[in-house]
Amino acid sequence: MFEEEYKRRYVFGADYGTSDYKYGPITLGERPQVIENRGYFPEPSIVSKIMGVERDVVVGKDVVLFLESGADLLSRMVYPMRSGLVAKDDSRAWKVIRELTRASLEEFRPRGIGFAGFYLVAALSAVSPRYMYERLYEVYSELAKEGLVHSSTIIPQPLAVAIAHKATSCVVVESGHGNTQVTPISRAPIRGAIVALNRGGADANAITAEILKDAGYGDLAKEETLVRKVKEQLGLLPLDLDRAVSFARSNSSSVRKPIKIHGTRITIDLGGSSWTRFLIGEYVFDPNKEVFESYFKRGMPRPKDVKFGDAVFHGTTTIADAVISAVEKCPVELQPYLYSQVILSGGNLSWSTPQELKGIASDAATRVKKDLSERGVENVNVRSSEEPQFTVWKGCIVFGYSVPANYEWSWERMEGWIRFR
Ligand SMILES: Nc1ncnc2c1ncn2[C@@H]1O[C@H](COP(=O)(O)OP(=O)(O)OP(=O)(O)O)[C@@H](O)[C@H]1O
Ligand SMILES: [Mg+2]
Repeated sequence: MFEEEYKRRYVFGADYGTSDYKYGPITLGERPQVIENRGYFPEPSIVSKIMGVERDVVVGKDVVLFLESGADLLSRMVYPMRSGLVAKDDSRAWKVIRELTRASLEEFRPRGIGFAGFYLVAALSAVSPRYMYERLYEVYSELAKEGLVHSSTIIPQPLAVAIAHKATSCVVVESGHGNTQVTPISRAPIRGAIVALNRGGADANAITAEILKDAGYGDLAKEETLVRKVKEQLGLLPLDLDRAVSFARSNSSSVRKPIKIHGTRITIDLGGSSWTRFLIGEYVFDPNKEVFESYFKRGMPRPKDVKFGDAVFHGTTTIADAVISAVEKCPVELQPYLYSQVILSGGNLSWSTPQELKGIASDAATRVKKDLSERGVENVNVRSSEEPQFTVWKGCIVFGYSVPANYEWSWERMEGWIRFR
């Protein structure tokens, strides 16, 4: 009984995203901490001077202190994940993951006696190969020696989303920065039916950068962080692209929105090409539209099909077609239940509708529902998470709170707690 109480008090969620690491203990309530998933490997001498410690990688807020280093920046800054996965032999990437995890746990290490490590619930992509689990558990067992981890478990991100929504039969569409996973769930993820797309927020950034270049902001288009901010403020998801574009052309004032970049003198105004705001969201949903060809011709990379281990990530499949092909891999009897509960999460699906563009711009759920019914799927229910970027983390917390402390990890079932102390 004591064990259960201890566990509930010290559940800690960790959602490893391609762009952002979302983390924190149960006591945070609704919102996790968010930090960029990256690490900087500075010259040893500089580290010891600035940090006062000998450490070969810097993570978290301190990374910014090193950004001025110029030419070295690219080789020294490591983003450990691609499409939600860390390469098996990339030792620098694994170092970043270890440091980031350590720093996040350390940030919330309770003072005083009685603390023997967190019950750490980590979430990984549903198509993660087994080595991701093995390596991560190795990291956690090291951190256990420092008193930070008591027990841990790793769950697939879509399952965390389903848990956060208390849904047992559903389809989860999780679209983050690096990739999109469509996962039918019936109590557990139906592994053979998962459809993964090699498309996420990073691709929406790519088209935003092209739009900025065309509008005369070529210099700014090189700065990824700035491009991302512009995308989040200016990007729109059209309900129907053609209709949205013709609306924008004849109502230019309602679509034009100059924005000022916080803390600088820079203002961005797309002027007469403000209709291109609709291309940003459209590209996430359907990059096959004719209008994108001219961008591909001018050098924007077309999202490719790629293989990671056994999993194929499709480049240009639309979101709706991905949902359909995932559901159709499941038993026919189950299909209506899956369509009746489609759940959207991940930052790349946080599109909102400005009041003056009602019926023209769309949120992700409305658009998915429309695309599915155009393809002949009836009785569809699509729900968006309230804060799509944080749903996985919330699911981790709920999972950790509910799964009994004595439920042991099994490599066959791939669930349960591994106890380190
Ligand atoms: N309001 C918004 N409009 C459009 N995109 C947004 C918005 N808010 C966040 N995003 C995008 O969502 C992405 C981050 O989402 P999320 O944190 O779910 O991804 P991640 O977990 O880092 O990546 P992944 O799950 O693919 O490994 C970024 O590309 C970000 O720009
Ligand atoms: Mg994610």
